[in-house]
Amino acid sequence: MRAHDDDTDKAGATHRLIDDDMHKIKRSRAWAVLGARGTAAVLLAAMAVATGTVRSAQAELDPDLMLAIEDANKSLSSNIALKDAKASTADAKELEAMFAKVEVFFTEKGEAPDAVDLSKKSRDLSNSIIQNVQSGNFDAATDAATNLSRTCRACHTFYKKS
Ligand code: HEC
Repeated sequence: MRAHDDDTDKAGATHRLIDDDMHKIKRSRAWAVLGARGTAAVLLAAMAVATGTVRSAQAELDPDLMLAIEDANKSLSSNIALKDAKASTADAKELEAMFAKVEVFFTEKGEAPDAVDLSKKSRDLSNSIIQNVQSGNFDAATDAATNLSRTCRACHTFYKKS
């Protein structure tokens, strides 16, 4: 039994030796590949740093969305002043939908609880404008629109970089 064990050990050792050699070969090949990949990775990382401004701009809120919000907000103010319930409702509905997108953006981005709250507040104010203009309460709608514009500024103070 003892001799047999020895044999097995020897055989095992031989196998291990071969395995080790195989590993060494594999490893040196792997390193050669990794070396080439590593250089590429370093280059890519350098490029990422160089294009960092572009990348972070893409991670920012879509400026087109904000420009559309600005247009709708201006239109809303004048339509409330004109006591145009139909057009005011349309603008406020648009704003509500766009602030829902802003809310999703900041929720997904994370670490921006104030921006999420301000987006929710903007949606609430848009909805209250809809209710007020539909019941002919244009003074209350004007107040809500003023609050909505303050909410724009509140968020820009903290979250708009430029
Ligand atoms: C919850 C936060 C938040 C609220 C609320 C908000 N904004 Fe913004 N806004 C931003 C951020 C962040 C930017 C910068 C985005 C960017 O351009 O990368 C921005 C940018 C803008 C821009 C500049 C767009 C450009 O790049 O040319 C305008 C205009 C704008 N907002 C209008 C408004 C108006 C009007 C309201 C309110 C009716 C409003 N925003 C409400 C976060 C907000």
